[in-house]
Amino acid sequence: MRNQHTRFVATPTESSAFHHPLLDAIDELLGLNRAILASDAEGNDLTNDDRDLIKHYEEGLQKVLDIIAPAGVQIRTKDIIVNDLYARTLYVYNWPNYIYPNWLAQTINLDATIDIAQFIYPSSNKAIMKMLKKKVAELRSSIRMLEQRGIVRDPTLEAALQDAEELRDLLARGQEKLFQFGMYITIYAEDEQRLKKVQTDIESLLGGKLVLTKPTYFQMEHGWNSTLPLCLDEVEINRNMNTSPLASSFPFSSSDLTSDHGVLYGINRHNESLVIFDRFDLPNANCNLFATSGAGKSFTAKLEILRYLMLGVEVMVVDPENEYTNLCEAVGGTFVPLSIQSKYRINPFDLPKAIRGEDAAPGEILRAAAINLHGLLRLMLGPITPGEDGVLDKAIMDTYALRGITVTAENPGDMEVPTLHDLVDVLNTTEGGENMGLVLQKYTEGSFAGLFNKRTNVELDNQMIVFQIRDLEEQLRPIAIYIVLNFIWNRIRTELKKRILVIDEAWNLMQYEDSARFLYGIVKRARKYYLGVTTITQDVDDFVESPFGKPIITNSSLQILLKQSPATVDALQKLFYLTDGEKYLLLNCGVGQGILFAEHKHVAVEVIAGPEETKLVTTKPADVKAADDAKKAV
Ligand SMILES: Nc1ncnc2c1ncn2[C@@H]1O[C@H](COP(=O)(O)OP(=O)(O)O)[C@@H](O)[C@H]1O
Ligand SMILES: [Mg+2]
Repeated sequence: MRNQHTRFVATPTESSAFHHPLLDAIDELLGLNRAILASDAEGNDLTNDDRDLIKHYEEGLQKVLDIIAPAGVQIRTKDIIVNDLYARTLYVYNWPNYIYPNWLAQTINLDATIDIAQFIYPSSNKAIMKMLKKKVAELRSSIRMLEQRGIVRDPTLEAALQDAEELRDLLARGQEKLFQFGMYITIYAEDEQRLKKVQTDIESLLGGKLVLTKPTYFQMEHGWNSTLPLCLDEVEINRNMNTSPLASSFPFSSSDLTSDHGVLYGINRHNESLVIFDRFDLPNANCNLFATSGAGKSFTAKLEILRYLMLGVEVMVVDPENEYTNLCEAVGGTFVPLSIQSKYRINPFDLPKAIRGEDAAPGEILRAAAINLHGLLRLMLGPITPGEDGVLDKAIMDTYALRGITVTAENPGDMEVPTLHDLVDVLNTTEGGENMGLVLQKYTEGSFAGLFNKRTNVELDNQMIVFQIRDLEEQLRPIAIYIVLNFIWNRIRTELKKRILVIDEAWNLMQYEDSARFLYGIVKRARKYYLGVTTITQDVDDFVESPFGKPIITNSSLQILLKQSPATVDALQKLFYLTDGEKYLLLNCGVGQGILFAEHKHVAVEVIAGPEETKLVTTKPADVKAADDAKKAV
């Protein structure tokens, strides 16, 4: 991307003002205001010699002007050479009858150095009304004359009359005002050839909208001055325009999202620039990724992971499809398959070790853990009565107490924690807890035994860790994700590091209130722990219906919306306040294309991967097979 300056100068003042307060101010800023010396009160006592001395001294001072002034300017008939840069100014001489809002945006986004100046002079309504009245009378009598002579009607006359009448109505009601509008564009380039090319580009871009321009030949200096930020219209080629078309000339879009550090997210579809930024620079590093199935959600997330790994960021993934394996192997990461048969176990009763800050107060660790556990157990138990809820709460604390872990215990994180088995024992011996004990037995002795009731034997000591839950039964997935997130969350809080946590198919969690609440808790607090949570989902409805969907989105500074299906796009539009244009863009874009919102910036983006990257992140069967064959061949 080359440097691009676009300046705007708009002035509501009279066009033919000789004395310009703004110019005086600029003179003063540049140290050019000689008048100050002459009118200086103390100067009265000075002799002429003293004045000369002071004048000499002042001339020897370094001024802003010395620093910013070009070394030389050559003014020619067709262009100006400022230092080594060629400049040419164009003025607009024809405006179309109809113009679209934001028509200037494309020009602004052109990959060239341009200065654009717009001069807007308010006209007096009174004079215009008078003139319009005359015009209407003329048109009417022309029409009548045709009628009297028996000639067929002239549609152009009628259209002109209608236009004039409409404008009169609008002006009379004060809905519109009349202005004079001048627009000048100065283009810069290193040589004449390139200057010519930029001129042709701009001319064809604007010409396509019937905004026609000409160079200010023989008046290059005036043209150039008019586009400097001096508020000086020395060209004075102005056209009448009323409020609405004038408003459409304001270039609202600033869709550049290029920073000098961070990772590449894709290519800006407005102007082909690169979308590069660091999500950790945003107010929070969380991201929501929405798209229909197969639109490239996981692909985008994997690319981002790959690129952040190179910056040393730690990555953890909850992978419900076992599709991050390839990537994980390539970067030497660890993957932890979770299933009944797997040897890996995570104990939901784990407590975080040595966490810092307010969370580390005695009792606080246990209290927070008990709340999380409570949410998890409600997920496992299904609907329970308020009475049972109370019993459960007490049983959790009792279970910890059996191991000597109470709210007063110091460093509870270092003590041996109970397991689900202990809780079932406690419930079975508590009045009102027997039913819950029975249900939970499914996880300790029944069909799901082994998975959640053993001590943890997973270590988080790799830059990339993937938790695979594909081989778990559908109904166990929300529970497993909950436990994994709790486990990750405990580890995250013990050491401050840049981390990204990717939760693919997050609707698994959003469909239950308890797991959605837990996810929201993590998303909300992630910023404090230097964590960026990426939630990927195709099911917008789960987000819309959950009371925690909206808060998760408002706590995420980055949103990536890829291709949407007609069924979900309306819900998405409401959720993100999309314009109609953005909605249709999302309906019509291809795989890997969409819109990226980073705070208030909206960028149409195309996610692209290099061939080596594609090999690691694709799930297209043909690509995967080719990669497998290649592996076998080696
Ligand atoms: N930006 C992209 N460039 C090229 N191919 C892509 C891109 N995004 C997705 N694909 C292709 O589409 C397939 C499906 O994408 P995937 O991310 O798995 O979809 P989903 O949105 O369901 O997670 C990928 O395996 C890949 O082959
Ligand atoms: Mg996917």
